[in-house]
Amino acid sequence: MRSKIVAGNWKMNTLVSEGVELASSINRFFSDNKLAPNVKIILGVPFTHIDACVKSVDYTKISVAAQNCSQYEKGAYTGEVAVDMIKSLGAQYIIVGHSERRQIFGETDAIIAQKLANCHKNAIFPILCCGETADERDDGSYFDVVKNQLIASLCLTDQFNILRTVVAYEPVWAIGTGKTASPDQAQEMHKYIRKIIAEIFTQNIADQISILYGGSVKPDNAVELFSQDDIDGGLIGGASLKKEDFIKIYQAI
Ligand code: PGA
Repeated sequence: MRSKIVAGNWKMNTLVSEGVELASSINRFFSDNKLAPNVKIILGVPFTHIDACVKSVDYTKISVAAQNCSQYEKGAYTGEVAVDMIKSLGAQYIIVGHSERRQIFGETDAIIAQKLANCHKNAIFPILCCGETADERDDGSYFDVVKNQLIASLCLTDQFNILRTVVAYEPVWAIGTGKTASPDQAQEMHKYIRKIIAEIFTQNIADQISILYGGSVKPDNAVELFSQDDIDGGLIGGASLKKEDFIKIYQAI
């Protein structure tokens, strides 16, 4: 059975002290309450917060993720952070290819493919993001856009490592906008993503991959989204910065 995942993406928010307080309060909830079976909680924090957040949570219940990594392994890349550096702090996941990285920082599928390869080489789980823009949704090309993103970004990933990869479908038009994909729209795309993974790899592999939905997930829409067959959880931006909302979204799974 594939895992259910509730992952927060804090983006560039909170000072370290505030992040530690948020991580600690989420951790307190899971000390007082049993984590539901087959559910994983992941906190995607800024690089500067990884060490302190890893130390603030019970790693058997909560994992910490970085939000990005370098496509390079080491060397003269001023300002970059390598996967093994992230791993050495105790993070277990890295969000790769978020649309903000693609759109604002010019990340291509080729760069993302290399980042995935670095994650796999270091036994850290990438959360691979994909999704179409508003224009691509409107002009009807959204299935092809997501298919091409998946094929190109998974070109260095083999059958062993795809099973160590989480996929997140995040329609760009729904991120931070308050506009959520309807449960039907999201389910339709998640089913399609699973079909593409089955075509690249096998159906058996596709059935084991957790595919998360991201884009304005809130406590009031999470139940319906998470009840869809191919939606295995969420990648939560804004609502992950409020402990109560994040916990309510977890409770929706
Ligand atoms: P949002 O962000 O929940 O604030 O829309 C999701 C994301 O960017 O991962």
